[in-house]
Amino acid sequence: MKKPVTVAITGTAGNIGYAIAFRIASGGLFGPDQPVNLHLIEIEPALGALEGVVMELHDCAFPTLNNVVATADLDTGFADADYVFLIGSRPRSKGMERQDLLLANGSIFKPQGAAIDRSASKDVRVLVVGNPANTNALIALHNAPNLAPTQVSSMMRLDHNRAINKLSRQLKVQPNVIKNMTVWGNHSTTQFPDLQHCTVDGKASADLVDQDWYRSEYIYKIQHRGAQIIEARGASSAASAASAAIDHMRNWALGTDPSSWVSMGVMTDGSYYNVGKNLIFSFPVHCKDHSFEIVDGLSLDDYSMGMIRASEKELIKERDMVLDLLR
Ligand code: NAD
Ligand code: LMR
Repeated sequence: MKKPVTVAITGTAGNIGYAIAFRIASGGLFGPDQPVNLHLIEIEPALGALEGVVMELHDCAFPTLNNVVATADLDTGFADADYVFLIGSRPRSKGMERQDLLLANGSIFKPQGAAIDRSASKDVRVLVVGNPANTNALIALHNAPNLAPTQVSSMMRLDHNRAINKLSRQLKVQPNVIKNMTVWGNHSTTQFPDLQHCTVDGKASADLVDQDWYRSEYIYKIQHRGAQIIEARGASSAASAASAAIDHMRNWALGTDPSSWVSMGVMTDGSYYNVGKNLIFSFPVHCKDHSFEIVDGLSLDDYSMGMIRASEKELIKERDMVLDLLR
């Protein structure tokens, strides 16, 4: 067995936390020969429920689970963490947009960013899931001055997986023959699921789908899938979100399939696709050995550039709403 890695997860008594903890503990993130220490972080009132999660984790007798810490203290929770999942925060309910959570949730990510900066491993990788995920990631990053901007990202993988699923069902193909899907921008209704460079079994997807269906139905349905699930379940997506978070972190740590790319929300520096700097924006990326590289130079038509601009504009507006939380 290898030396254990430490994975910290916030909000572990909640729905996504409950789904993800068992998958990580059982080797679903790093495989069957990598032991993990789990650091589970909750707010004080949820520590009782968290204790139940800890008991259940022990009762699974997973050979890959080395040690479990349950705490409401951020420095204890993030101590020496190699990987951090920032999930704990309020989910939206019916009728709300994800941006409506900014004022309720944004302030959670300032002290968490600062505590990660103080206490986590210097090489930590941080994935923000709590909504609105892009701007919360920006807040966490601004409050962790010793982290490189490339150490924090936000989750677009659920949107990416949804986009693959919908296309595969439309074309009646297996999801794994779909390559180079991109979902650009914000995890919100301005996100842009882009089929322009996507291939299906090696063929350009643009030649396989009707453009009216793509523009009038496909994009809208991906943008609104989260709300559709809230409508049906009475609660926001949880198991699919946990699964996407594992996909995201596994690719970031262990690499992507060299023949394809994935979508990740990452810090902008102004040099890709004319998106302004200091936003967490989703791009197509290749990952290798804990790092990612934005896929540059894709040709984008006016329609696509217009969609990207709209999402950028929304993220600037979100950033303006939380200026006091950015250092
Ligand atoms: P939930 O209400 O079931 O659980 C949230 C948990 O977070 C609760 O146990 C709560 O006690 C805890 N929490 C609240 N504040 C905390 C803090 N400061 N520190 C630690 N823990 C804290 O919610 P959920 O369904 O698990 O969703 C969690 C978040 O993930 C929501 O913001 C939701 O909108 C978001 N989400 C994002 C995506 C995405 O694709 N980015 C997908 C699904 C859900
Ligand atoms: C999702 O996309 O399912 C999550 O972001 C939850 C939500 O509020 O839509």
